[in-house]
Amino acid sequence: MATSKEMKRFYNAQITGVGMYLPEKVLDNHYFESILDTNDEWIVTRTGIKERRKEEKGPTSYMAIKAAEDLLKSKNMSAEEIDVIIVATVTPDMFFPATACIVQNKLGAKNAWGFDLSAACSGYLFALKTGASLIESGAYKKVLIIGADKMSTIVDYTDRNTCLLFGDAASALLLEPTEDLNYGFKDALLHCDGSGADYLYMLGGGSLNPPTHETVDQNMHTLFQDGKTVFKEAVKGMADISVDIMKKNDLKSDDIAYLVPHQANLRIIDATANIMGIPKEKAMVNIHKYGNTTAATIPLCLTEYYRDGKLKKGDNLILAAFGAGYTWGSIYLTWSLD
Ligand code: COA
Repeated sequence: MATSKEMKRFYNAQITGVGMYLPEKVLDNHYFESILDTNDEWIVTRTGIKERRKEEKGPTSYMAIKAAEDLLKSKNMSAEEIDVIIVATVTPDMFFPATACIVQNKLGAKNAWGFDLSAACSGYLFALKTGASLIESGAYKKVLIIGADKMSTIVDYTDRNTCLLFGDAASALLLEPTEDLNYGFKDALLHCDGSGADYLYMLGGGSLNPPTHETVDQNMHTLFQDGKTVFKEAVKGMADISVDIMKKNDLKSDDIAYLVPHQANLRIIDATANIMGIPKEKAMVNIHKYGNTTAATIPLCLTEYYRDGKLKKGDNLILAAFGAGYTWGSIYLTWSLD
């Protein structure tokens, strides 16, 4: 495979805008103590999560639109300027039309085309790479990548193994071209391995098990996770891919300002940072506030850290994720927003 330096490119895709939406309703660990046999101490020590949000006003598109509006407002930009909208999600409003179409219409992005992308917790990285390629080809100038998931609609609130891990949120980034190849997207390593399908899935609702009274009775419309197996694979997957992209691009730990990890479990994040040889403080973390918001975790971290003034132009970032599929990957980019 060619290194990023060997690849000829006229443009890099760079992130030029950020946006986010968080539902108002907070479910803290004490709420779960009141409905399940669990406790705050177990949840915090095993996962790092203290709170997560629950959307009560609308479907996934509602959150996605709010995040996009936040981005457009902060850039003082019209929705009509957007060329492409990609929505990474496993909780689309419906199978079809795509949530991206609902967003396009309600946002007033009348010059945009778009589509949904399904790769679970790696969805945002897959969408970013896809969007960056559309920019780097020279074909498009403004690509909006939204990560939005309303996980509260597919978790079983009687299952203590899963329901308290997840939350609802949306976040968006805008990609635009830059001719200054010192900034923006430098490299990506993405993978999937469908043999992992047995360990993290939702069986019902699709063509395999179309919805019937039976699928509802058998609780097939909520997610299942073999937590222990996925945990081991996630540590290995996220750490290995992050080390691989560092090696491929001659990056030492000191060269990296932040690891931007998918937020599934604080222990997975710490282990990844450790294996990469970077201090814990260099791993972006907001899992304590929002839990695992699936496709929204990575843009949410970037948006919050940027708005808090912790992310500076020129910072080298390694984004890394692991999720259902299995899917996993890493992206190396240099932050370009002042
Ligand atoms: N409260 C209290 N006890 C709980 C509990 C809860 N909410 N959930 C599980 N337990 C119990 C289990 O029943 C088990 O009890 P036992 O030893 O008597 O059988 C014990 O705690 C340990 O369970 P285990 O599943 O081994 O915990 P764990 O340390 O693996 O943590 C997860 C569970 C789900 C937090 C962890 O496995 C995980 O984060 N997995 C990967 C998530 C991930 O990355 N997903 C991919 C992206 S979505």
